[in-house]
Amino acid sequence: MRSFTTLLLLISMNAAAVPVEGHKIMISAPNAYAVEAGRKVAAKGGNVIDVAVAVGLTLAVTAPYYAALGGGGFALVKMTDTVEAFDFREVGPAKTHRDYYADLHESASRNGGHAVAVPGFPAGLYGLHQKFGKMKWKDLFAEPLKLAREGFAVSGEWVRETDEEKDHFNKSGLEKLFKKGGIGYKPGEILKQPALAKALEIFRDQNLKGFYEGAVAKDVVDSVANEGGVISLEDMKNYKMRSLAPLVTEYEGHKIYLMPPPSSGGVLIKTALKLIEKMGVKNKPALSAEEYHLLGEIESRVFRGRTLLGDPDFHKNPIDYLTSTKYIDQLKDSIKADKVTSLDPLPLDSGAKKESEETTHFSVLDADGHAIALTVTLNGGYGSGVVTEKFGIAMNNEMDDFTTRPGKPNMYKLIQGPGNDVAGGKRPLSSMSPTLVEKAGRVIMSVGAPGGPRIITAVLQAIYRIIGRGVDTDLAVQLPRVHHQFMPNTLFVDRARFSPEVIDGLKAKGHQIAEGSQAKVYVVKARPDGVLEAAFDSRGEGAAGGF
Ligand code: DON
Repeated sequence: MRSFTTLLLLISMNAAAVPVEGHKIMISAPNAYAVEAGRKVAAKGGNVIDVAVAVGLTLAVTAPYYAALGGGGFALVKMTDTVEAFDFREVGPAKTHRDYYADLHESASRNGGHAVAVPGFPAGLYGLHQKFGKMKWKDLFAEPLKLAREGFAVSGEWVRETDEEKDHFNKSGLEKLFKKGGIGYKPGEILKQPALAKALEIFRDQNLKGFYEGAVAKDVVDSVANEGGVISLEDMKNYKMRSLAPLVTEYEGHKIYLMPPPSSGGVLIKTALKLIEKMGVKNKPALSAEEYHLLGEIESRVFRGRTLLGDPDFHKNPIDYLTSTKYIDQLKDSIKADKVTSLDPLPLDSGAKKESEETTHFSVLDADGHAIALTVTLNGGYGSGVVTEKFGIAMNNEMDDFTTRPGKPNMYKLIQGPGNDVAGGKRPLSSMSPTLVEKAGRVIMSVGAPGGPRIITAVLQAIYRIIGRGVDTDLAVQLPRVHHQFMPNTLFVDRARFSPEVIDGLKAKGHQIAEGSQAKVYVVKARPDGVLEAAFDSRGEGAAGGF
């Protein structure tokens, strides 16, 4: 009883986010500017995709550390009878190959031109609009362009992110992006980005060619080359968003639509949900050491399979095996309720890593069940640190998501397999997991998160809490979570949200506990009475709105 009271107290202290309700369309996104841009588009009659495009473009202006045009991402979309998955992840430049990083400096896949993969976010926004948009493409730029030209008030997150990365940018690009070199801004100060506004105008007026050909493409290619990288004009011109069939699974009477490879998230979440159901996790006392122990053990088991995955155009993914009853039963038999029984993990530095904030997610859901869950990323802090010299576009460092050095962990301490080797035209394996949940043929929930591998365990636990245990949407997002990614052999907890009794209970079962920040979940859910509620994680910035 004492632990439950402690927990409630902790939750009430931490839970800045409240559910926001509407009846027509709701948005959960990382900042208020983006939500407002989306709300304005919806008020003009825009559909879910129009709203999403406006939200995405606005984030490219207000939060370039994770949603710049130089990034890439995934979306799950329900606009017709079927749910579709869209992949606008960055691809390796044609000149890269399996041994590309062998003779380069250890940080080459993280910083500078070698780290940059061909961006996909603009192709994603444009492609989604072409397929499903209702409003005119040009009209979706009104709000983001205004914010770029006239300025917006930088947030605490913006200041922290930019200051943290200030030594990591190329100088000419940095000067284009921030007039004061990014240094010394205070939260609330107004930032104007005239160069970025120009790039947005070109994208608005010339569509896809406005980014992938012409002056903007040349700026990307030249700026990356000046920092040592090898993206060519041809690479830019060849970039294509692709559509994929989502992975589907049943969970507690719901259909869960998940992102397939090159995301690892869908496969791992599918396997984990099956284990959660088979092991009756929801019958354990809620928020108890028994419950979190099983969640941690399940997470570590499913992460083991991640090393077998890669881009489906280059690698045969053993999805049937990883989601088969035989494999899942083997994993189930290896888990014990009373103690940790890890499967021979390799020794690895288990130092907790601060969650970086270079990915983000937003969800939009309307009263008719039209929905999008979109996750976009630059990978690390302002990506590669390369900011284009003419238009001030921050470029990703998504190359680090490939297996750049076999057997060595990447920046998220993930050890990757041969299916994820570097190749030109190939997409690196990702943890991004935009997800839609359907009940009786209608999408009732759109969810996702940033947070590297923690995305997978956060989305899993959000689905488990909300769908499996019927916890209210906002509370489910704020509740304590555990993260285990097999290697290192450590259960990461956000300690301040846990009662000491639960932590002690987990230690008694043999868990090596480390403090480690968790991902940030964004979700919109339709309640059975039809009300749409949006929630975002009090672990970071967020906003919700709609009507
Ligand atoms: O695609 C991936 O898995 C990583 N590039 C995501 C990085 C991430 O989520 C960082 N953010 N918080």
